[in-house]
Amino acid sequence: MTRPGSDKAHPEQGASRRKFFKFLAASPLAALAYSAWPSRLLEPVAGEMLPSMPSTEPLPCVDCGAPVLPLGLDGGPLATSLPPGLDPTRVVLPARRQELPPQQAQEEQLMGSLIESPDDATNVWDFERVTHENNLAQHWDYLHMGVDDYETRVANREGYQRLMVRPRRLSTEPATGFSTATELFGEQFNSPLFLCPVAALQAYHTQGEAGAGRAAQRAGVLQVQSHQSSQTYEEIAEARGAPHWFQIYTNPDWNRNQRVINRVVAAGCQTLVWTIDLLGGSNRELSRRSLVGEGRDSELCQQCHQHQEGYVRAMNVDPGGPAGERPPYTWDWVNRLKNASDMNLVVKGIVTAEEAELAIEHGADGIYVSNHGGRAVNSLWSTIDALPEVVAAVRGRVPVMIDSGVRRGGDVFKALALGADAVGIGRPYVWGLGGFGEDGVDKVIDVIMDEFRMVMRQTRTTSIDQITSRFVMEAKNPIMTRRNELGFGL
Ligand code: FNR
Ligand code: LAC
Repeated sequence: MTRPGSDKAHPEQGASRRKFFKFLAASPLAALAYSAWPSRLLEPVAGEMLPSMPSTEPLPCVDCGAPVLPLGLDGGPLATSLPPGLDPTRVVLPARRQELPPQQAQEEQLMGSLIESPDDATNVWDFERVTHENNLAQHWDYLHMGVDDYETRVANREGYQRLMVRPRRLSTEPATGFSTATELFGEQFNSPLFLCPVAALQAYHTQGEAGAGRAAQRAGVLQVQSHQSSQTYEEIAEARGAPHWFQIYTNPDWNRNQRVINRVVAAGCQTLVWTIDLLGGSNRELSRRSLVGEGRDSELCQQCHQHQEGYVRAMNVDPGGPAGERPPYTWDWVNRLKNASDMNLVVKGIVTAEEAELAIEHGADGIYVSNHGGRAVNSLWSTIDALPEVVAAVRGRVPVMIDSGVRRGGDVFKALALGADAVGIGRPYVWGLGGFGEDGVDKVIDVIMDEFRMVMRQTRTTSIDQITSRFVMEAKNPIMTRRNELGFGL
């Protein structure tokens, strides 16, 4: 062990170094600050750190022996106690030890934390906590719920957790260039991530779909508007300054569908998404409990949605209830929808090879693998499990999109590796919107994309087309799930 500029070991250096690092081990924040110090100070004692009570006594500097009292214990400025040669601007600590937040990081990592600004978010679940806190219970329940006992919601997460990433540490040539850009139907996007159609976004923030749309536009990601949205296609397109995709719930009366299609085409829409996974109804117990009694006619709902004569604030009536008469829809409806305009047609809700094949046969330009985020049928089948057979059936003829349970950049990577061309988030961006409006959506997209780029770097992939099945495999070990007793973290 030598000092910089000297080849002689400092007397007592080893002992004082150990004492000093014991102090750091017992004082995580001080250790954080010292992580900005040169690694030569840290390396020799690796493995020697033992927890002990923090000392308030000055400790000798590991290099020169001068007394050092890390900031916060004496309240004085850090610079006075820094060893010579260290740059005080590289060491960041709050002013006083008393101001340290309570140590609950581990709990927050599982539950999400109640953040005060989007920049405080560590991952998407931090936004879930805030939106839960901000929202009327009925609105929250509608967003959160899955059908039956939520098994499909759980399966969606477990599907991703069971897949391992097979990293690539080194390659033969240094990596050149880096891009997450992608293309769908000739449209360029900065990222394969997209915002799924989610109904009634003004229930979560007054900016609604327009706010989400502005965030999507800023990030260069695709937005798909729900047929059940709070704002019109024209309002959202105007807010974004560009057209987006539109999702339709068909009506047995064809003329109504044609009117909707004509309207969005006139507003510039180029791609229509037909959702087919709610045609048989869905068992939404939490929503039923939430709306118990008079339901939407209750005073609670009406005092907001219709608080004065002549004022009606739109209220989402989701199409997930009992299907009633046998639904009239057949594969021929795919042809009808395709031929109703010049728009591309994507069929949403496909989870099997045979239906992917049939959809393409009947004119679909894109296949969208989805189980509606566990809100349709309690199939217990995650979309990431369904993806390989759908991709195999599609054989590259049309783009394949996927959603349901995507929460991490790593999930985006895994879905691309198994053959998806675009990967959607539903609830996570609504958590962002519910917490902080469009700034929250910006941050949710950033967080997931930062995570995604990190996995790309860890696999030495520098473009979307390099992400292949070589980089994933089925996990052998049970994987921890984040789900906790409050039901957050799915
Ligand atoms: C949805 N989803 C949905 N899908 C659709 O085609 N039209 C719609 O109007 C809605 N509405 C809707 C409302 C709410 C509150 C949620 C949570 C979801 C489904 C959505 O497009 C997407 O498939 C899922 O949200 C994806 O799953 P995650 O990301 O929420 O797990
Ligand atoms: C839902 C609908 C509207 O999932 O798609 O609630």
